Amino acid sequence: MQQKRQINVAVIGTGWCGGIRAGACAASPWVKELHIAEIKEDRLREVAAMTNPVTAMTDYRRLLENPSIDAVMISTTPEGTHYPIAKESMLAGKHVLLEKPIAIELSEADELIALSREKKLAFTIGYSQRFNPKFAYVKRSIEDGTIGEPVSALVSRHITRNLGKKISGRVKLSPAAMEATHDIDFVLWCLAPRRPVRVYAQEVAKIMKAQYNAPDCVWIVVTMDDGTAFTIGAGWVLPPAYPNFASTWIEFVGTEGAVMVDDTHRDVYVTSMKDGIRFPISSMPGEKVNHVYAGPMEAETRHFLECVAMGRQPLVTAEHARLVMQVYKAADQSVETNQPVTLAAAGAPALAPASTPQRTKRAAAHKTRCGDPGLHPTAHKTRCGDPGLTPPRRRHR
Ligand SMILES: NC(=O)c1ccc[n+]([C@@H]2O[C@H](COP(=O)([O-])OP(=O)(O)OC[C@H]3O[C@@H](n4cnc5c(N)ncnc54)[C@H](O)[C@@H]3O)[C@@H](O)[C@H]2O)c1
Repeated sequence: MQQKRQINVAVIGTGWCGGIRAGACAASPWVKELHIAEIKEDRLREVAAMTNPVTAMTDYRRLLENPSIDAVMISTTPEGTHYPIAKESMLAGKHVLLEKPIAIELSEADELIALSREKKLAFTIGYSQRFNPKFAYVKRSIEDGTIGEPVSALVSRHITRNLGKKISGRVKLSPAAMEATHDIDFVLWCLAPRRPVRVYAQEVAKIMKAQYNAPDCVWIVVTMDDGTAFTIGAGWVLPPAYPNFASTWIEFVGTEGAVMVDDTHRDVYVTSMKDGIRFPISSMPGEKVNHVYAGPMEAETRHFLECVAMGRQPLVTAEHARLVMQVYKAADQSVETNQPVTLAAAGAPALAPASTPQRTKRAAAHKTRCGDPGLHPTAHKTRCGDPGLTPPRRRHR
């Protein structure tokens, strides 16, 4: 039987997301000691009162000096703080859950990945939507063959202007890097081990430009190595009066079917004299509703705690987060140049085939037989006519 043990955890940055993480840790039987660090003293006191940590301090470096702390969750802003704090945490021997983005530059992400490997530390990025049951269902519909071979996908995500101002006011990262990133992660995860080969993107800048020098939204088209194409639209300019925080629509179409997901959060609404109509439980991380959470961040936090306690690899690999970064950086470049961007095949890390090892093995065997290193197995099969590669949709039947 696997060894199970309680762990000691620190949350660094206890704003909105860090507050949810700290609350989830405080309630978890996996956590023996919770420690928190937050530079805003009033927020530190507020979260300490909610979560009763063993220590609460403004200087996270003092937490890293504590050898009894096994893991840290880094939920700081601005986003430029992610890389240095993650690096210091790993150097101090801590397992790390880091909010997206993994870093500002690819070279920083590479450094963190190398360090986590060298020190044999769990390292995962907060792509919380993977823990949204609706998103997990799409992944399963592809894996179990329900929709057949994927053909195309669309994800359209909008958040309100208030959140857009909060994000673009603190960091000069694009909507591709800050919003579409969740959906790039999700679709690449669904399509693994296929790899992205081409990215084209267009931004619109009509509303936020004057005040924040930021675009309003981005539309991205990504082509995969087997010819599958997907598009992601991500914007942060829904009017403040919009009754919602975040609204997402997904279409995944395959050779044998399609799965459509309405994640627009219009299923619960409240009307009041003061605020009119609101869809109250619609933020992306998912706020606390008494004893439960409305969204995936609490489940994601528990998953990380379990992985550290049981010595398992978390679902989101840092290598995958790096690939997501390559795609959104290509989208930024495409916006700038107004041209499609081809992703370099060499040197790009493999997509994490976490739940499809058999498929990866077959793909490797096929590549060896076929001798063409550049293509996805489905494309190999079509091109070279090798019957030895079972179509994915028949795998579980
Ligand atoms: N997974 C999701 O669904 C999701 C949703 C929103 C935001 N995020 C990501 O999570 C991160 C946090 O977002 P947020 O909305 O909670 O931001 P926030 O601004 O509400 O909270 C960040 C906190 O970090 C604190 N901080 C900054 N530097 C610090 C330091 N050196 N030591 C200790 N505390 C420090 C700030 O004082 C602030 O309270 C962002 O990087 C964002 O990209 C993820």
